Amino acid sequence: MTNSASPIIELDFTDWSDPARFPEKQDEWTTAVENGQVLYFPHLAFQLSPPEQALLRENVLKSGARNVSLGGDGVLKHAAGAPDEQKLLAGMIGRYRQSVLTLIDGLFPHYRGALRVAPTSFRPKEVETRVQSVHADDRRMHFDAFATRPTYGERILRIFTNLNPSGVPRVWRVGEPFETVAKRYLPQIPPYSPIKAKLLNAVGGTKSVRSEYDHLMFNLHNLMKEDEQYQQNGTVATQPFPPGCVWVCYADGAAHGVASGQYMMEQTLHLAPGRELHPESSPLAILTRLVGHPLAGAGSAQTL
Ligand code: SIN
Ligand code: FE
Repeated sequence: MTNSASPIIELDFTDWSDPARFPEKQDEWTTAVENGQVLYFPHLAFQLSPPEQALLRENVLKSGARNVSLGGDGVLKHAAGAPDEQKLLAGMIGRYRQSVLTLIDGLFPHYRGALRVAPTSFRPKEVETRVQSVHADDRRMHFDAFATRPTYGERILRIFTNLNPSGVPRVWRVGEPFETVAKRYLPQIPPYSPIKAKLLNAVGGTKSVRSEYDHLMFNLHNLMKEDEQYQQNGTVATQPFPPGCVWVCYADGAAHGVASGQYMMEQTLHLAPGRELHPESSPLAILTRLVGHPLAGAGSAQTL
C-alpha cells in the first residue's frame, strides 16, 4: 500500500470478495475513501465472456445517448442492439453490479443498511472525442453534483472498471482536498435563495427543491469547470487505470477529471447523510463549518 497522504491508495486484491477477509483493515479503508482518496485495485479484473467482448463497440449505444444504464428493476436504457444483444448487455452490467456489492460490503461494512443502489452504467464512448458543454465535460476537474437531482447531503460513492480490449488505460487527474477547493470558490457563490430554489423546482428545473447544500455543490462544480487556471494547475496526481482494474472514490469529495479512455463500467451507491464513519469529513460537514450556519441538509429541504 502507498502512504496515506497520497491521493491514490493501491490495494492488491485479485478477488472481489477478498477485502472481507481483512476486518482489521476496514476502518482504515473507510477513513481513506471518506478523506477523498481513491482506492485503486490494479489486479481486480471484471472478466467478460467472448460474446460479451463483442459488446465493446460504440454503437451498442443509441445515438445521442451518453451511457447504457441498467436500473435496479432490470430495465436496460439507451442500448441500440437487437433483443439478444440487449439481454447479453443487461447480464454483463448486472453481474458487475453484484461484484461491486460484494466488494463494497467487504471494504466498508460500516455502511451496511445505509447504501442505496443507483442504476449501473456502461460507457462505451471515447473520452477524448466526446463533444460536450463546459459544465457537462467530465474531462474538467470537478466534484460530482447533480443539476436536477438534489441530494440533501446523500453521498455519491462510485466504483469504476476499465474494460478496454486494446490495453488503453482510462487516465484520471485527481486534485486537492475538498476543503481546499471549497474555500477557494465559496466567496464566488451567490447567496442561497429558498424562493429561487422553489421557483426552479416549480418550472421543472429540479426533481425536488434544491437545498442550500445542493446550491453550494452545484455552483462549486460549475465554478471549478469554468476556471481555466484551476484546470491547468489543480492536478495533484495523474493516474492511468489500465484494463483489468477497479477504482473506488467518493465522486462528491474527491476532485477528479478524466483525460482519456474508452469502455468503462460504473456503479453509483448513495450513502445516507451522516452515515459515514467520520461524518465530520463529509462535504456537508465541511461546507456547514465554512459557511458558519446549518445547511438545509438531510431531508430538511422538503420543508423550505
Ligand atoms: C466522472 O467524472 O464522474 C466520470 C469520469 C470518467 O468518465 O472516467
Ligand atoms: Fe465526475
